[in-house]
Amino acid sequence: MKRLILTLAVLLPVSCFAAKVAEPQIVPAPQSIQMTKGTLRLKGISINCDPNMDAQSQRAVRQFADRLSLVCDKTSSVASPVGLSRTVAGGKLKGLYFVQDASVAPEGYKISVTKRSAVVRASSFNGFLYSLQTLRQMLPVAIYGTEQDTKAKWVIPCCEIEDAPRFAYRGVMLDCCRHFWSVDQVKKVLDAMAVFKLNRFHWHLSEDQGWRIEIDKYPRLTEVGAFRNGTMVGGDWNSNDGIRYGGYYTKDQIRDVIAYAAERGITIVPEIDLPGHMQAALASYPELGCAGSQPQPYEVWTIWGVSKQVLNVGSEKTMQFLEDVLGEVADLFPSEYIHIGGDECPRDEWKTDPDCQAKIAELGLKDADGVTAEGRLQNYVTARMQKFLAGKGKKIIGWDEILEGDLAKGATVMSWRGTAGGIKAATMGYDAIMTPTTYCYMDYVQGNNLEKEPFSITHQWSSNKKWADNPLTLEKVYGYEPLAEIPEEAQSHILGVQCNLWTEYIATPEHLEYMLFPRVLAISEIQWSAPEKKDFARFKSDLASHELPVLEKLGINYRKLD
Ligand code: ACM
Repeated sequence: MKRLILTLAVLLPVSCFAAKVAEPQIVPAPQSIQMTKGTLRLKGISINCDPNMDAQSQRAVRQFADRLSLVCDKTSSVASPVGLSRTVAGGKLKGLYFVQDASVAPEGYKISVTKRSAVVRASSFNGFLYSLQTLRQMLPVAIYGTEQDTKAKWVIPCCEIEDAPRFAYRGVMLDCCRHFWSVDQVKKVLDAMAVFKLNRFHWHLSEDQGWRIEIDKYPRLTEVGAFRNGTMVGGDWNSNDGIRYGGYYTKDQIRDVIAYAAERGITIVPEIDLPGHMQAALASYPELGCAGSQPQPYEVWTIWGVSKQVLNVGSEKTMQFLEDVLGEVADLFPSEYIHIGGDECPRDEWKTDPDCQAKIAELGLKDADGVTAEGRLQNYVTARMQKFLAGKGKKIIGWDEILEGDLAKGATVMSWRGTAGGIKAATMGYDAIMTPTTYCYMDYVQGNNLEKEPFSITHQWSSNKKWADNPLTLEKVYGYEPLAEIPEEAQSHILGVQCNLWTEYIATPEHLEYMLFPRVLAISEIQWSAPEKKDFARFKSDLASHELPVLEKLGINYRKLD
C-alpha cells in the first residue's frame, strides 16, 4: 500500500504536467498567454465569422481557412451566421469563431481556445490579422507553405491570449535608390513584415544615386534621374563598374504595392528626401540647382556619400517643383504621413548662391542659437512643405535634422543620429519615431567577426579607420529600450520604432534578406512586446525552433544564429 501511494505521488504530478501543452513560440511575444490543458483539433473545423466584421477581415479569415484546407487536407468551411455573437455568448461552441468586439484595443485581439472551440475577438482589421498570425504561429510551419502535410499535428493548444501592441508605429525602411528593388522583392519584405506584426513600410524613393517614383509633371525624373552611369565598386570611391544601373516604379506599380500592403495591415509611408540628397533630380532638371555649382553638368551620382549639390531653395521655381512632386505623392499614397527627409543637407552652395542669399535677406534669417542663417533657410523649406501637405490633409515626418532651429508644431521627428533627437523632440512636444543607428541600422554588420560577413558599411568605415567597428548583433538590437531616457510625461510622443536598411553595399535580394533577417524579428519584439516579456534566451530559442523554419518556408534568406 505504502508503495502504491508512493508510486501515485510520483506519477500524479507528472501526468498532470503532461496534459498541459508547452507554450507556443510566438514572436513578437504576446502581452499575456495562459496555457490550459489539451488541444483543439483543426482538421475539418468549421469557421464562423461575425457578419459585423468588415469585408477585409472576413477575407483574411477565408484566406486562412483556404490555406488550412490546402495544407491539412480537409475542407474547412467558413460561414457568417447571423447572430453569431449571441451564439458565442450562449456557450456550447464547436469550431473556430471570429467575433467583432469593440472593447478590444486597436490592433489588439483575444483568443480563447478549448478542446472544442476557439473564440477570437478583435475590433479592427489589423486586430483580426494579428490574431490569424498568432494562430499560424501556433501551427506546424507547413501552414506557411502550400504543400499538404498530413503527418503534421494540426492542433492548437488550449490557452487564453490577450494581446495588443506596445507601439502604434512599427516600421521598416527600405532604401530603393542606392540599389533598386523589384516590386516582387518589396512584396516579399511586406509579407514577412506582416507575419511579425509590423505595420509601416517607409519607402525611400529619391536619392543622389537614383530617383525611383514616376512623377507625371516631371518625366525626366525617371527618364534621366532613375539611371546612373555605373556604380563604385566595393569601398573604392575612385572606381566605376561601367554598368548602367537603374529602375523606377510606375504609378500603377505603386498603387498595386499600396493595395498589397493594405491587405497585410501595412501602411506605406513614402519618402521624398529634400532639400539635400537631390542630385538625381538635379541631373534631370539642372535649373533647380544652385547657380555656378561645380562640377557641372550634374550627373546621377555613381558613388556613395552625401552630395554637396543640393536644391536651390531660394528659387520659387524649385519650391513649385517640390510642391508639384509632393502633391502627386500625396495624391497617390493614402498614408496620413509623408516623409520629407531633411537629413544631411550640406549648405555650402547656399552660402554663395544669389537666390538663396536673397531669400535669407527677404526672410530676415540670421545666425542664432547655434543655427546658421542657411540652417534657418532649411527650416523655411520644411515649414513650407509642411503647410502645403497640411492643405492636402497630410502630416510630415522628417529625419532629426528638422529639429535644428525652428520646427512647426505637428511635425514628427525620426530620430536616427542616436536617440538624442527623439528624446529632445518628445520633450518639446513633437511626436517621434525611434530609428537610432546604434540599434536600428540594418546595414551595419551583424557579427563580431568582420571577415565572416559580407562587405558592409561597417567594413568600409573600419577600412577607412574613421569609425570603430560597430557590429549590430541580434542580441544588441534586441536589447534596445526605446523609452530609455524619455521623461515619463513625454513618453506618449514616442509613436514607435523602425529599422532602416540603406543599400549602398547591398545589391542582391539574398543579401538584402540576410541583412534584415532575423534582426527584424528582434525589432518586432521591441515594437510590440512589453519590456518585461522580453527575454533574449527565450527569443533565441523561439527563433531556432520555430521562426527560422518559418522564414525558410517563406523562402527568405537569413543569417544563421551564432
Ligand atoms: C540617414 O541615415 N541619413 C537618415
